[in-house]
Amino acid sequence: MTMYENIAGLRADQRFADTDHWAAHGVQWASGESKRIECLSVVDETHDVKTFTFHCPDYHSLAYEPGQFLTISPVVEGQSVSRCYTLSSTPTRPFTFSITVKRVPGGTVSNWLHDNLRAGDALNASGPAGVFTPVAGPARKMLYLSAGSGVTPVMAMTRAAADLHAELDIVFVHSARTPKDIIFRDELSRLQRSMSHFRTVFFCESKGDEDDWSGPMGRLSLAELKERIPDFMEREVFTCGPKGYMDAVQALLGSAGFDMSHYHQESFDINAEVVEVAAEADAPNQDLGTFTVRLARSGKEFTMTSDQTVLAAAKKAGAVVPSSCSQGVCGTCKTAVLEGSVEMKHNGGIRQREIDKGLRLLCCSRPTSNLVIDL
Ligand SMILES: Cc1cc2nc3c(=O)[nH]c(=O)nc-3n(C[C@H](O)[C@H](O)[C@H](O)COP(=O)(O)OP(=O)(O)OC[C@H]3O[C@@H](n4cnc5c(N)ncnc54)[C@H](O)[C@@H]3O)c2cc1C
Ligand code: FES
Repeated sequence: MTMYENIAGLRADQRFADTDHWAAHGVQWASGESKRIECLSVVDETHDVKTFTFHCPDYHSLAYEPGQFLTISPVVEGQSVSRCYTLSSTPTRPFTFSITVKRVPGGTVSNWLHDNLRAGDALNASGPAGVFTPVAGPARKMLYLSAGSGVTPVMAMTRAAADLHAELDIVFVHSARTPKDIIFRDELSRLQRSMSHFRTVFFCESKGDEDDWSGPMGRLSLAELKERIPDFMEREVFTCGPKGYMDAVQALLGSAGFDMSHYHQESFDINAEVVEVAAEADAPNQDLGTFTVRLARSGKEFTMTSDQTVLAAAKKAGAVVPSSCSQGVCGTCKTAVLEGSVEMKHNGGIRQREIDKGLRLLCCSRPTSNLVIDL
């Protein structure tokens, strides 16, 4: 049976949550393959957010599920640096694709993109990858909860739902610092007018310089959720935003008794490993196993405990290890473990056949013996 036969006969809302449907929307890049992509345009979304649109110079289309991300690797000061960025565009228009990037103070790649990347420039990218897509939670009633740049995956889902005329009931709740910081505000308002079961709610912490702002102020609370989305307990929830925001959302849904099997979230937080190393420095633990790790190529050797990830320990020891998401989703830190064993808890960034070949994602692997790794 062909992929097209598989999806023939599905309703639009079923296709929206169907892997085969999205795979049929373009060419799939091989896992781990790095492609050259060319920037076509750069658009200011807010004062610190830009959208970069790309195409493949060979004019191939790109297949992805709404909510997936690319790992891009621009060369910054002579070094290739990898970071993940969600495709904010819709896979229903697969010949061009976009990422929407917020400047992070002191951040290497976000600032480099804002200051340097122009139409006509090319860079390397791999992917798409990620499981924060409608396939993870097929449903007709959705609640999207986003804050800051966390809007990008749910924007991709919204654009895809609009293009498919999928009969979905979506409430899109977005939190921003001020009205001027609401990314995609005009387009979301336009979609609210054109889609029959699509509603936006924007929360702003302050009015900024928009004195006539009449929308809700402050942070999302359970009381606000109950008042504005009375049927939120019946919805499939997709959440993306800073860690503090997602912790708060989980806490308020938990306090309402929400069934968390209908909850999905994606973290953009890249500081997990920095936090982990800092916490270890503060709290030495005698009960943990201590192991020796040797880097086969450089000959470097260091010791680590079984509660550290191999990536965090290797970086702490001064090794240069390519990494991006730190969550086992992007595959950037994939490395062969030549001797010894690790416990790996990944989130889809590695395939079984790669595991069978001895590859591991170092960002989510903890040692269970001494190791020799291919670095
Ligand atoms: C799956 C996924 C999807 C994502 N999608 C998007 C998206 O759609 N849009 C978007 O804008 N972002 C997205 N991100 C985040 C993005 O990947 C980057 O993490 C973000 O742009 C910051 O990268 P940077 O290179 O600018 O900052 P980095 O150089 O990585 O720095 C990040 C922060 O850490 C601090 N820092 C750097 N080095 C150190 C150090 N040694 N010690 C302490 N602090 C340090 C910096 O000052 C900065 O505050 C996504 C992330 C993931 C994992
Ligand atoms: S850094 Fe993304 S999978 Fe390890």
